[in-house]
Amino acid sequence: MHMPKRPRRLRVTEGIRALARETRVSKNALVYPLFVAGGPGVLEDIGSLDGQKRCSPDLLPFLLEKTAKAGVRSVLLFGNPLYKDAEGSSAWDEGGPVQRAVREAKRTFPDMTVITDVCLCAYTECGHCGVVRDGRIDNDGTLPLLAKAALSHARAGADIVAPSDMMDGRVAAIRRALDGEGLADTAIMPYAVKYASAFYAPFRDASQSAPAFGDRRTYQMDFHNASEAMREAGLDIEEGADMLIVKPALSYLDVVRRVADGFDVPVAAYSVSGEYAMIRAAARAGILDEAAIVCETAAGVFRAGADILISYYAKELAGWIDEGRLG
Ligand code: PBG
Repeated sequence: MHMPKRPRRLRVTEGIRALARETRVSKNALVYPLFVAGGPGVLEDIGSLDGQKRCSPDLLPFLLEKTAKAGVRSVLLFGNPLYKDAEGSSAWDEGGPVQRAVREAKRTFPDMTVITDVCLCAYTECGHCGVVRDGRIDNDGTLPLLAKAALSHARAGADIVAPSDMMDGRVAAIRRALDGEGLADTAIMPYAVKYASAFYAPFRDASQSAPAFGDRRTYQMDFHNASEAMREAGLDIEEGADMLIVKPALSYLDVVRRVADGFDVPVAAYSVSGEYAMIRAAARAGILDEAAIVCETAAGVFRAGADILISYYAKELAGWIDEGRLG
């Protein structure tokens, strides 16, 4: 009689299951996004992102302390500037929220890895990620502005700059600007693969960065495409990217897998605001078990090949890793 093999012997106790896991999740792999605004004295709830807070640079250490206590060692900073104009000039203001927040973070938590989002959409009046000339996004005219913004973050002490604009050629422009100022050690982690996604809605609300006209489909990717992701990622690597971000995460795990297999650099998956908000709302309504769902989805991201997970649940995930629910 044929006896089938019985892999279930690896499932009988919690200890064996933990030992036999194929996917390991570490707190070191988590990045927590934070929103910083002009201040001082701002610490407020973000309406569209239940459970998340926006703070001014002076109060950032308060949020960093909670982050560090949870065991999360990396943060990604987004700026909500005090003013917007056509060029997005507050993006490279040395006294802007992100620049001040980076200095404050480095002063108070020098071991925290500080990543900054580099884009213009929160800084331009039109809410586009590039400057608009004659009703169109001016790709090449945007590059020097992004380089200025990235440079101001790096000068403030950012460890990694993360351009999220999706203009062509921005990684090369930023690398040149950083190297020109002796900031060769500042890493670049571009959002190399960024889809035009409805999952960003809560973020745009939080950052007041929704485009005033049109949409982002001329520079962000079409969700039907996956090979294009490989071309985008390849170009960013050629231009000097040190790591890559794929975003959103959950609807694009096939793309995470292809990028992770195709390129020999760390790959981050960004579980974006809409993914967070969806799980949060379902949990609040008593429809889903929040911890169980977040652990399951996080494991899925790492199983797909991601090395890094950017998540609004980073602190909670760290706690669940400590409890042995994940990892
Ligand atoms: C800025 C930027 C966006 C996000 C990260 N950087 C919004 C967008 O491109 O519209 C989305 C992050 C999230 O939804 O959590 N370009």
